[in-house]
Amino acid sequence: MKVILEIQRYDPNQNIEPYFQSYEMETQPEERLLTVLMRIKQELDPSLGFRKSCAHGVCGSDAMVVNGKERLACKTLIKDVVTDIDRSIRVEPLQTLPLQRDLMVDQTHFFQNYMQVKPFLINPDSPPEAERLQSPKERQQIDEGTSCILCASCYSACPIIQEKNPDFLGPAAVIQAARFLDDSRDRGFAERLPELDQDNGIWPCENHFECTRVCPRGIKITKTINLTKRSITKYKDLTLS
Ligand code: SF4
Ligand code: FES
Repeated sequence: MKVILEIQRYDPNQNIEPYFQSYEMETQPEERLLTVLMRIKQELDPSLGFRKSCAHGVCGSDAMVVNGKERLACKTLIKDVVTDIDRSIRVEPLQTLPLQRDLMVDQTHFFQNYMQVKPFLINPDSPPEAERLQSPKERQQIDEGTSCILCASCYSACPIIQEKNPDFLGPAAVIQAARFLDDSRDRGFAERLPELDQDNGIWPCENHFECTRVCPRGIKITKTINLTKRSITKYKDLTLS
């Protein structure tokens, strides 16, 4: 199947503005977009820049915008993004993060927000001799959060960050906070509260559901954000009353 890839290009040393470059490629319907991008790089244009590592949907490094939607290139089949009538595929870098080159963005701000919520177990109690045990039910509580691969797709698709508040903590950081707040072994609610309970913390979310729509791990992000908002209100009611 012949497809036309319209790929956003940008070299800060040569271009004032990003532009689109077309590549015509013979592909298989079951071929992954990442494989096609790698073939373009190897066979047609070694200057094409994009990130990838695991090629199996685990590292989160090849998130990009494909035909207007955030996707992992390694988990996107050609047949998923073309139709019988339209064989063109538009590939752009993630939104809301500064463009570095071609399909690569600077993820510094995204990871700063991630670190801000203290994404690690906080428990001042002395550890038991073996390990801090958890029941299967308690473990289930954090299943979704632990599956986040920090791909930044949700951060890119968030209309609040795009249009209203670029300093909003963002969906992924809240998911990471919730992953520890909901962990039966964690005691860090008070320590994480100032980061979440502030103007640019959890509250700017307006339930647009775009994050949930694009998350490649199927995490119910908006639902978790709302549940975390509720936990914060409850915690404050209990501690301030
Ligand atoms: S919550 Fe989903 S979309 Fe957001 S960073 Fe994690 S895996 Fe990616
Ligand atoms: S390359 Fe690792 S998630 Fe796609």
